[in-house]
Amino acid sequence: MTFPILERKIRGKRLVYLDSAASAQKPAVVLEGEKAFYEQHYANVHRGVHTLAEEATEKYEEAREKVGKLLNASSEEVIFTSGTTSAINVVANGLELDGDIVVSMLEHHSNFVPWQQLAKEHGKKFKVIPLTPDFHLDTEKARELIDVNTAVVAINHVSNVLGTINPIKELADIAHEHNAILVVDGAQAVAHEKVDVKALDVDFYAISGHKMYGPSGIGALYGRKELLTKLQPSIFGGEMVREVKIEDTTWNDAPWKFEAGTPNIAGAVAMGFAADFLRENYEQITKTDAELVPYMLERIAEVEDVTLIGVADEKRGTCFAFTFADVHPHDVSSVLDEHGIAVRAGHHCTQPLHCALGLDATTRASFGIYNTKEDVDAFIAALKKVKEVFT
Ligand SMILES: Cc1ncc(COP(=O)(O)O)c(C=O)c1O
Repeated sequence: MTFPILERKIRGKRLVYLDSAASAQKPAVVLEGEKAFYEQHYANVHRGVHTLAEEATEKYEEAREKVGKLLNASSEEVIFTSGTTSAINVVANGLELDGDIVVSMLEHHSNFVPWQQLAKEHGKKFKVIPLTPDFHLDTEKARELIDVNTAVVAINHVSNVLGTINPIKELADIAHEHNAILVVDGAQAVAHEKVDVKALDVDFYAISGHKMYGPSGIGALYGRKELLTKLQPSIFGGEMVREVKIEDTTWNDAPWKFEAGTPNIAGAVAMGFAADFLRENYEQITKTDAELVPYMLERIAEVEDVTLIGVADEKRGTCFAFTFADVHPHDVSSVLDEHGIAVRAGHHCTQPLHCALGLDATTRASFGIYNTKEDVDAFIAALKKVKEVFT
């Protein structure tokens, strides 16, 4: 497996890419697959009857099947979107909201703001499940907050900050006991674990192509078939219609009624290649994560002045957010960059979480399939230099 970008140098140093949670790098198989599609099969989809139009449509629909297979869903339950954010907005804008909304404190803004705004618009309650002191979702409180008046529970599968892995099946059971739907933000989960939407019993599951070794500008929404039939489209235009008359319009079937206009055709095709890449490499991914997570926990504890913000035991995801005494995360990140190490600094689109933790920002290192113990060693060595620079 080759990732061409990993060959390049940063400031004369080997690139150590520890920012896969923001966006993963792309394997040659995805890059070449997308290029070959443009070079050999490209045309618009679902419109023409010429050879290229038919081939492009076939490849686009094949990609839908591949993404379905990745999530254990049928292809008609997969909508192509521009990413997790737009997938969640498709649900929020298409629901007939008839109750309250429950989210959690660790949500990314993309699974927080759409629900907050929807609740406001409809005059419904917007409730936030708190965390326990060890950075897990407080499931006791979740049981109190999700009640007969709840219509939607919207939860992140794996935190992009704390490493928390949420108990999705348990939350699905609680939501369904109260006839609420469960919408899951899977942006950080699917690149690290096999997701089975049927076994998890979720109603909607959103993912981004760029975080799973595919291109940016493409993502997908899984929706339970009967719910997709009821969900209203919120973007109108060509291809999502069945019949348009001056008086009114009828919609195409799901998933196409949610894909108005020319979609990101090559992006979807390449996301299909990325879905295959993941399915073929889950064993390697699990092995890498199982090796690197405990190693990172052990090594980061060595660095004086570093405080890990997140789950401290090995049963966690691969995002490691931390503070470094009173050095600003942007400064920490700049020092690491001098050593060729790419990490992210900021609030990681989780301002409510950072505010609850009394922080403005953190620095975050995160893993992808290409990372090694040597990368962790390089990161720790560079981190130890931060103090020299700032004291
Ligand atoms: C947990 C989580 N949810 C949602 C998103 C938003 O994804 P996108 O920007 O691809 O829509 C991100 C991206 O950082 C994320 O980490």
